Amino acid sequence: MSGESADSGTTPVVAIDGPAGTGKSSVARLLADRVGAHYLDTGAMYRAATLAVLRADVAPDSAEVASVVAATDIRLSVDGDGATVVTLDGDDVSAQIRTDDVTSSVSAVSANAQVRARLVDLQRTHADRTLLVVEGRDIGTVVFPAAALKIYLTATPEARAERRHRQNVAAGRESILDEVLDNVNRRDHLDSTREASPLRPADDAVHVDTSDMTLDQVLDTLTELVETRIGGQP
Ligand code: DC
Repeated sequence: MSGESADSGTTPVVAIDGPAGTGKSSVARLLADRVGAHYLDTGAMYRAATLAVLRADVAPDSAEVASVVAATDIRLSVDGDGATVVTLDGDDVSAQIRTDDVTSSVSAVSANAQVRARLVDLQRTHADRTLLVVEGRDIGTVVFPAAALKIYLTATPEARAERRHRQNVAAGRESILDEVLDNVNRRDHLDSTREASPLRPADDAVHVDTSDMTLDQVLDTLTELVETRIGGQP
């Protein structure tokens, strides 16, 4: 599929926003592959910033996080299998950014407005003439408000917790469903009530509720949206 924008007023970006556990990461990556687009996981950037903060021994909710992140070189790329590779000052931290320590501190670090401003600038450098699928929380509202297509994925907290729990069990991690649900609700609350770019759908986003959909069904729905909204345009 061509990376040209659907019309001169849009950016050749498919923005996929929504809370954790909606299947966003899996579907965004598969969608990019299917439509021949590049892929950007912005959550990985906030996770990398959080790892830098933890390594610097700075409290995730302190004002100091901004200077730590400003002094850190964060880079994202995609390997031959389509997986995101993240480096911190040249060090590959792709696995470390997925640990529980990072997951429990990332909402606090991502609430810092200066951290957000720096990472939004970095995210925008990834856009060019090739279609880009970008997943995050504020892509359609803040990062690429002129995205050619905005999708907001939702699912009930229970469905999202159940998915996360199954992933944990499959990966051999200890997991208690009630605790996972509490964690989902806590992160939703932090992400949607923060002052800086809270999680919310763009006015022109297409809402897709994935609670009762399989990954393949979500992928087919999104592919069709890309094809009709972007691919079908001159
Ligand atoms: O998608 P994820 O779970 O890897 O994201 C990690 C955290 O980063 C999540 O708690 C919210 C935050 N985030 C954000 O604030 N803005 C984005 N564009 C992407 C992620």
